[in-house]
Amino acid sequence: MNQKERIDQLFEKGMLSREDLARLITERNEEDSQYLFEKARIRQQEHFGRDIYLRGLIEFSSYCRNDCFYCGLRRSNTKASRYHLTKEEILACAKQGHELGFRTIVLQSGEDLSYSDDDIADIVYSIKQAMPDTAVTLSIGEKTYEQYLRWYNAGADRYLLRHETADSEHYRLLHPRELSWENRKRCLYDLKKIGYQVGAGMMLEAPYQTVENIVEDLYFLKELQPHMIGTGPFIAHKDTPFRDMPSGGSELTIFMLGILRLMFPKVLLPATTALGTIDPHGREKGILAGANVIMPNLSPVSVRGKYLLYDGKISTGEEAAESIVRMTERVESIGYRVVQGRGDAPDVQIHQIT
Ligand code: 5AD
Repeated sequence: MNQKERIDQLFEKGMLSREDLARLITERNEEDSQYLFEKARIRQQEHFGRDIYLRGLIEFSSYCRNDCFYCGLRRSNTKASRYHLTKEEILACAKQGHELGFRTIVLQSGEDLSYSDDDIADIVYSIKQAMPDTAVTLSIGEKTYEQYLRWYNAGADRYLLRHETADSEHYRLLHPRELSWENRKRCLYDLKKIGYQVGAGMMLEAPYQTVENIVEDLYFLKELQPHMIGTGPFIAHKDTPFRDMPSGGSELTIFMLGILRLMFPKVLLPATTALGTIDPHGREKGILAGANVIMPNLSPVSVRGKYLLYDGKISTGEEAAESIVRMTERVESIGYRVVQGRGDAPDVQIHQIT
C-alpha cells in the first residue's frame, strides 16, 4: 500500500493494520498531510458541520501529590508557586463563564488532597444548581470507582483523564513507580462504566516515545472508545527531570489529529493549549486537520501564570473575555464558527441528576 491508499483505507474503514499506521506516520510528507487533512475535514463536517465547541477551563488548584517527570506541577518542583481556589472563587469563575456564553465548565487541577470528596461533590452540585444548562467536566486525576461515582451522582457529566501512553514500559519512563499504566486504564474504564463522557489522549513526542507507542495509543483508543481525545506535543519544563529533553513541534500533532478524525469520526477533538503554545497558528491548523473543540482559560488572571505544566504556556496574562473574543475571530478567519451550547459528543445520553 502507498500513503494515499493508507489514507483512503482509514477514510473508508476507520482502521489500518499496526504496520500500515506506523508507516503512514513515519513516511508522512507534506503532500500526504494535505490529502489526509482534506479527508479529515470531510468527516468532521459530516458530523459537526463547521461548528467549533468551546469549553471554559478553570484550573482551580496547582497543588499535586504526584511526581510525573514531565509536568511542572509535580510535587518535587519546589520552585512552583502554588495556589488553590475556594469554592466561592470557583463558582464565581463558572458564573462568569456562563455569562460569556460557555455551557461547559472544565474543573481541572493537580491531585490536591486538600479538597475532600465532599468538597468536590459540593462544588459540582452547586455549579449544576446555579447553571443547569451547563455541562460540568472534572479533570482531577486518578481516583477510586466510589469517588468517581460520588461525583457523577453530584452531577458531573464528563471526566478528562489522558492516558498519556498506552505502553506500560513507556508509562514507567514518564512516571514515578507509584503510578502505573494498569491503574490509569482501570480509572478510564471505571469512568466509562459509571456513565461519564470520557476524554483520554496521549502526549505526543514525549521523551522515549516511539512510533510503535503511538500506534499502540491508537489501538488502545479504539478499544476504549472515549468521547473526547486530547493530544498535544510534550513541551519541556525547566524545573522537571525532563528539562533537557527536546520539546515536540506542531507538525506531528496536527498530522495525528487528521488520523484521529478518520479513525474516530464522531469524537470531540480539541486543538489544545500545548499545540497553540508550540505554534502560534497551531490551533487553527489543528481545526483544519479535524479538531473541533477549543478550551479557553477561565481561571482568574491572578493565578494564570501559576498553572504551568510546561514552559511558555500561552494566554497567561489574559482575561477570559478577551481570549474568547480573540479565539472566535480566529476560528471565523478560517471559515468555522464558534457555537454556544454544551457540545456533547453525538449520540450520547445526557446525564440527568435524580
Ligand atoms: N508538555 C505537554 N503536555 C503536558 N502535560 C503535562 N505536562 C506536560 C508537558 N510538559 C499534559 C498531560 C496532562 C495534561 C493536563 O497536560 O498530558 O494529562
